[in-house]
Amino acid sequence: MVSAKQEKQIPVYADVTKPLEVRVEDALKRMTTEEKVALCHAQSKFSSKGVARLGIPEVWMMDGPHGIREESFWDEWGGAQWTNDSCTAFPALTCLAASFNPDLSLSYGKSIGEEARYRNKTVLLGPGVNIYRTPLNGRNFEYLGEDPFLASRMVVPYIKGVQANGVAACVKHFALNNQEEWRGHINVNVSDRALYEIYLPAFKAAVQEGNAWSIMGAYNQLRGEHCCHNDLLLNKILKNEWKFDGVVISDWGGVHNTDQAVRNGLDLEMGTYTNGLTTNGSFPYSEYYLANPFLKGIKEGKYDKALLDEKARRILRLIFRTTMSANRPFGRFVSPEHSEAARSIAREGIVLLKNDKAFFPVVPGRYKKIAVIGENANRSLVIGGGSSSLKAAYEISPLQGLIAKYGREHIVYSMGTASGPSLYGREEASKLNTDSLMAAAIKAAKDADVVLYFGGLNKNHFQDCEGGDRQTLSLPFGQDKLIDALLKVNKNTAVVLVSGNAVAMPWLSKVPAVMQGWYLGSEAGNALADVISGEVNPSGKLPFSFPKKLEDNSAHAFGKLSYPGDSVNQYYKDDILVGYRWFDTKKIKPLFPFGYGLSYTNFEVGKLTTDRPAYGKDDVIHARFTVKNTGSRTGAEVAQLYVSDPVCSVTRPAKELKAFQKVYLQPGETKTVDLDLKVSDLGFYDEEKKDWNVEPGEFILQLGNSSSNISQTQRVIVK
Ligand code: BGC
Repeated sequence: MVSAKQEKQIPVYADVTKPLEVRVEDALKRMTTEEKVALCHAQSKFSSKGVARLGIPEVWMMDGPHGIREESFWDEWGGAQWTNDSCTAFPALTCLAASFNPDLSLSYGKSIGEEARYRNKTVLLGPGVNIYRTPLNGRNFEYLGEDPFLASRMVVPYIKGVQANGVAACVKHFALNNQEEWRGHINVNVSDRALYEIYLPAFKAAVQEGNAWSIMGAYNQLRGEHCCHNDLLLNKILKNEWKFDGVVISDWGGVHNTDQAVRNGLDLEMGTYTNGLTTNGSFPYSEYYLANPFLKGIKEGKYDKALLDEKARRILRLIFRTTMSANRPFGRFVSPEHSEAARSIAREGIVLLKNDKAFFPVVPGRYKKIAVIGENANRSLVIGGGSSSLKAAYEISPLQGLIAKYGREHIVYSMGTASGPSLYGREEASKLNTDSLMAAAIKAAKDADVVLYFGGLNKNHFQDCEGGDRQTLSLPFGQDKLIDALLKVNKNTAVVLVSGNAVAMPWLSKVPAVMQGWYLGSEAGNALADVISGEVNPSGKLPFSFPKKLEDNSAHAFGKLSYPGDSVNQYYKDDILVGYRWFDTKKIKPLFPFGYGLSYTNFEVGKLTTDRPAYGKDDVIHARFTVKNTGSRTGAEVAQLYVSDPVCSVTRPAKELKAFQKVYLQPGETKTVDLDLKVSDLGFYDEEKKDWNVEPGEFILQLGNSSSNISQTQRVIVK
């Protein structure tokens, strides 16, 4: 008990000069069992209780991951119509990954963290790091691509940036929520090896290097248990192996069982009796699995009080790290710095896929009449998509960006095709007449000097949207037909795709140029116009492979049981061969490979050397080479170092990314690049040993500027 004398002073738990754990234990011993249980479940759609009697604040959470979502009503999903919550929309995480620039990730995290802090949020529900397994996954745009190493390097600075604001990042969705189809229950069967090598590394980096203060369980099941209360994922791996000391928060409606929720590592239950974003049953918060049923179990002696203390301890720790931290800054919202950060990230993530006869850049003054065609040139793309939908303070569309760059007098616009409104969980066709839209677009394109077609996907159901997967790899809403028709009347037609996923491009050989834009947020139009006009040289690289056809992608190569499953079970038969690991090992040519992206300048890479020919298992390989900008424009190249292990007791991929660096170069400039590889990172997860294993022998370093374009190899020996 705390003495009367001590009580007069500031209580230990509120004393920011005291160590965190001392404060946590002090708070814990002052609390009743009821107060501790109350910490463990929601009190509203996006908040959970603190300890009002002790002045310990509530926890307020908010999506994430691309901007701070608008305020909603207490117990509903619907926007509450506040007038002070329109945020900066940052580019989607696929764009951040495509930048291959961890410094930008820090600036992303810092900026969005400031916005969360200003809006008084305790937890930002992001970033998302589920691995891109199939181009049909409706939520790929919220994630960091197909490669566990790239995702790991990019997620860590994001988290550090967010948390520097005294706001907890919540890494999601742990784990294997790699499709939206049947996401609420599909039971994923996957090998330990694929789990450790492909699906977990970004989460591990987020926890161990990013020190994430919270993590969100996934909706799906792994080996028969829902991931929000999964003993293997939460107790064994996250808390025991990785020593995670933060809070496991359920996804909204992801909890199904009190016993498992109590024992299997969940700390905070949110959104129960909501089916993802749709069904909202009336259900008192006191009846949550971790509310009265938990309390009853404790009182009856069914659940050990230590289980409750452990959850309460973690939640208190989170509150002390955030709202009750001494050094919590004040944040800022929709500042010019945030717009600048959003624009820089967008510019560096845009990927130039094809550029015959220097179609791009379209330098201002080169053409008199530019026909801008396509719905995505003029449609809000921050709205929709599910929980990441944003009420943005502003959004510059591509059309607006181009008008600002080239002058209104040089631009004609025509929509060409139309999709319906962004609705969650259902699709509604546009009421506009498609024939007349197409005819108008063809007319506009016919006598233009150049045509820029803006298409791709949008945030509607069955596109890039939560709660459902895409139904096909093809472009929706008749766009392929329109592109063909445009090409017939004007060969000088380039395609700019806005999407968070790969799409089929049947017209690829006929168009001179293709650019991959992403959902770029508030600064979309400015950033695209910067790159299209040549003010900025593109330097983005694809964070996932584009297959030529769906069956070429590993998840689809094994039939329905592999994707999407039989509605009960799913088997990841592609195992560790995901993304380029599959394409390259199986020698299937993708449409565009992972790591690929063109520039307006050219680069030359010097000889790859290593500091030694042979290494021990605890050594670090120091690789060195030069990169020279041989063209006449400033630009940046992403040097990518892959590794293979040609002789091994288990199947190894043809290559795996182990290091990269984005190198910024003036025309004619040369820089030396040093990349370090830990030998211990070159192994595989050995299912027998239940540990990582580096087998001695030969390893091949492969240096390139995409997973398919390896310009040099270097052999090293591991002893
Ligand atoms: C999504 C989460 C999101 C939560 C709260 C869920 O449907 O899967 O990513 O953070 O809703 O909006």
